[in-house]
Order: sequence, then C-alpha cells, then structure tokens
Amino acid sequence: MIILDGKTLAQEIKTEVKEQVATLTKKPGLTCILVEGNPASDTYVRNKQRACEECDIISKLIRLNNGVSQTELENVIDAENKDENVSAILLQLPLPDGLDEEKAIGKISPNKDADGLTNENMGKLFNKNSALAPCTPTGIIKLLDKYNVQIQGKLAVVVGRSKLVGQSIAHLLLQRNATVVMCHSKTENLQEITSKADILVVAIGKAKYITADFVKTGAVVIDVGMDRVDGKLCGDVDFESVKEKCSMITPVPGGVGPLTVACLMENTYKLAKEQQEL
Ligand SMILES: NC(=O)c1ccc[n+]([C@@H]2O[C@H](COP(=O)([O-])OP(=O)(O)OC[C@H]3O[C@@H](n4cnc5c(N)ncnc54)[C@H](OP(=O)(O)O)[C@@H]3O)[C@@H](O)[C@H]2O)c1
Repeated sequence: MIILDGKTLAQEIKTEVKEQVATLTKKPGLTCILVEGNPASDTYVRNKQRACEECDIISKLIRLNNGVSQTELENVIDAENKDENVSAILLQLPLPDGLDEEKAIGKISPNKDADGLTNENMGKLFNKNSALAPCTPTGIIKLLDKYNVQIQGKLAVVVGRSKLVGQSIAHLLLQRNATVVMCHSKTENLQEITSKADILVVAIGKAKYITADFVKTGAVVIDVGMDRVDGKLCGDVDFESVKEKCSMITPVPGGVGPLTVACLMENTYKLAKEQQEL
C-alpha cells in the first residue's frame, strides 16, 4: 500500500508558485474573509496565510464577527473587488447560519475568485475551458497524476456532492474520462456502490465513516474529510482498516489538505498574472 503524500507535492507546488510570482511586475495579494464561529476555519486560514508568506504573496485577513449581516459581508467583498492591490478573494466556508453562501460567493468578482466558485467560473469549468478550478479538486487531480494513477476508463465513485468538492472533482474526473458515479446522503446501498470503485473520493464530513467494507481490494482512496475526534484531526475514511485493503490512500493530515492550500496559491498567482496582462 502506498501513502499518497500530499505534503511533499504541496511543497513542490508552492516552490514553483514562488518562482512564478518572482516573474510578475507586482506581488499578488490574497484576501481571506473569515466570518468567526467555526474554530476549524481559524486553523485553515492560518495555514493559508503561512503559505502566502512562503510564496511571496501578500496576504490580508478580514475577520468579521459572527453577527455580521449579509449586506455588511457583501459590502466587504465589494470593497476587495475594487482594491487594485487584491488579486484574489477567498471566502472561508462554511459561513454561520443565517448568511447566504451562494449569494455571498456571487458577489466575488469572477476575475478575483480564488476558489473558482462563482457561477461564471463554475460554468467555465463545466464547459472545459477553465484554467482555474476549485483548489481541493485541482489538488486531488495533481496528486493522482503525481502517482501515475490511471483515471481514464476507471470507475470513480465520489461520495459527497458539495459544489466546492464533490461536484467539482466528479467533473474533473469525468473530463479525464473516468466513469463517474456520485453518491450523497440519499444514496441507497452506498456500500454496494463504493465497493466497486477503482478510485474512491470521499468528502462527507463524517469522521471515519468509510470502513474497509466500503472499499474494493486494490482501490485508490482519496479522503477529503477534515473531521475531529477528541480534538484530533482525522478524515472521513477509517484509515487503519482501509489501508490494509487499498493500493493507495491519502492520510489525514498530510494528504488533500496541504494540496488545497498550495492550489490556492497557484490560483492566486494565475489571477494576478491575468490581471497584470490586461
Ligand atoms: N482537505 C481539504 O482541503 C478540504 C476542503 C474542503 C472540505 N474539506 C472537508 O471535506 C468534508 C466535506 O466537505 P464539503 O464542504 O464537501 O461538505 P458539505 O458541503 O457538508 O457536503 C457534504 C456532502 O456529503 C454528503 N453526505 C453526508 N453524509 C453522508 C452519508 N452518510 N453518506 C453519503 N453522503 C453523505 C451530503 O449529502 P447531501 O447533499 O444529500 O446532504 C453532502 O453532499 C468536510 O469534512 C470538510 O471539512 C476538506
């Protein structure tokens, strides 16, 4: 069994981004907007800021308190859209209850949309003409390529259908000619379906939910989950049981998470470059 090392690949991507940033006339700037209320988000945003330092990207963090209104949030996004020093905007998800994620994302200017989640960028992704896909799915494809995993013709099962992860990775796998099945909370006989997968991607937010019984012998397993059990980070896959059965698996931590951050740096560079070329 091979452990798919996301941490090392993420470092390689960040080194390359730093070199590319040095070729720009002006340093890129990434604004992270964090609405307080989700303790895990603090850690993720800190990791993103640290990566910006490593890549020579100017990072700005805007913290909004939990009671911020939709209008206040959208006004903040608007101000960043207009700021010439800001190349990319990332709205840290999930937002607290009461705020409309879809509407807030819609306010981000598509040419500063670091995670490619606006309707315009999602549309481009689905039309196969996008150079900028959401960070997590982009990272997963890079990892599969790094380990020469054959995608074409394989049965890929994606569990979870968020736009951010499930739907986007399903689409990227389809573009690479996998046969893709998408599962979600209403899927009947989940285990029967996942246990046929050559490539199994899990993004459901349920700690250690996918045990060995859900996995085909020799499958490649990508665990996107970032969950906590007794304060300790773990994934949606029960690593200890599944590792005995699969051929390759991402660890948590050290798998998909660092790649998401590295691909955010890459997307920020790409957006800055496009803006400077205009
Ligand atoms: N590693 C990273 O960089 C990274 C990045 C983003 C997210 N994450 C992590 O990935 C996980 C998923 O995130 P997300 O934003 O995609 O989550 P999300 O928006 O909450 O979506 C969860 C999805 O899982 C499905 N689901 C929930 N329980 C299920 C079950 N028992 N069986 C089958 N499907 C089930 C839901 O189905 P319905 O649609 O039917 O409700 C939904 O589609 C979380 O742990 C999150 O922290 C990690």
